[in-house]
Amino acid sequence: MELAVAMLLILLSLASWCVLSEGRLLVDMTLVSDASNIGAFCLDGSLPAYHLHRGFGAGASNWLLQFEGGGWCNDIQSCLDRAKTKHGSSLYMNKLEDFNGILSNDASLNPDFYNWNRVKLRYCDGGSFSGDAKFDNGTSVLYFRGQKIWEAIILDLLPKGLGNADKALLSGCSAGGLSSFLHCENLYRALPTNTSVKCLSDAGFFLDERDITMNYTMRTFFENLVSLQGIEKNLDKTCTSFLDNPKLCMFPQYFLNYMTTPFFILNTAYDVYQFHHALVPPSADMNGDWKRCKLSIASCTPKQLDILQGWFQG
Ligand SMILES: *[C@@H]1O[C@H](CO)[C@@H](O)[C@H](O)[C@H]1NC(C)=O
Ligand SMILES: *[C@@H]1O[C@H](CO)[C@@H](O)[C@H](O)[C@H]1NC(C)=O
Ligand SMILES: *[C@@H]1O[C@H](CO)[C@@H](O)[C@H](O)[C@H]1NC(C)=O
Repeated sequence: MELAVAMLLILLSLASWCVLSEGRLLVDMTLVSDASNIGAFCLDGSLPAYHLHRGFGAGASNWLLQFEGGGWCNDIQSCLDRAKTKHGSSLYMNKLEDFNGILSNDASLNPDFYNWNRVKLRYCDGGSFSGDAKFDNGTSVLYFRGQKIWEAIILDLLPKGLGNADKALLSGCSAGGLSSFLHCENLYRALPTNTSVKCLSDAGFFLDERDITMNYTMRTFFENLVSLQGIEKNLDKTCTSFLDNPKLCMFPQYFLNYMTTPFFILNTAYDVYQFHHALVPPSADMNGDWKRCKLSIASCTPKQLDILQGWFQG
């Protein structure tokens, strides 16, 4: 539980690095009213949402879809907490979203995509848009419907032009970068065969590796997430049939080989989130030996640097 909250906090701050703050373009939120037909709800039962800014000129029939990031919730309590925030309910989302970075409409800041149709998919399921389950014990209800939210948004966008796209790029950062891995093939299948589909993950390549005490901290975290949110049935089928532990197919390293859609992976060498939560989680550094190193790589001992180097390259 403590770990879940810490991960959420770090990812929230990470999410704000993923987009650079530049010019201001505020884009209205669209609630997906048909989502209830297929049971697609945010954690609290509210309707899912996205923001669309139309393309123009040479980009008018190209589409960039970006998953919002923001950690995960992998137990009932952390999901109940999240259901009262913008990452668990459209009731708390800002209705105007700042489109910057890859979503900017300024050609000088975003030369490749400024004139494309650009969509931000709001994240309110806590399971990287991949769950399909419901918790209801009589007093508390939680919808784990990320997969349905993804489907509802795509169904809504197809008649708005996505269905005739010339090019489509699926992207996302952090938990949204993982979503991009998990849904890349789905997007390819949802669009006509003559649409050029590609995907991009920014800081979404979460590794199944042991922490410094040899514990599989991240594996345990994802296993709980997959179980709680009913994600397993939505993971890559070739991967889940191949692995003894199908839940591990939440990690891109196990299903990347089965993907056929062109994919661009962007991950920094010393990914801060994975350094602080997968390699050296608080549970693995009770004495605080890594505290200084975590604050600044320049303060790491040679031994710590070796470990960092080995982990990210091994
Ligand atoms: C339902 O779950 C919530 C959260 O775990 C708990 O606080 C509540 O007591 C539970 N209600 C019942 C009837 O078990
Ligand atoms: C794809 O094929 C359809 C049907 O032939 C055609 O209408 C459409 O313009 C094509 N799209 C692209 C991007 O070539
Ligand atoms: C390793 O993981 C187990 C199971 O999650 C946990 O009980 C144990 O405290 C962990 N050990 C360390 C050093 O984190």
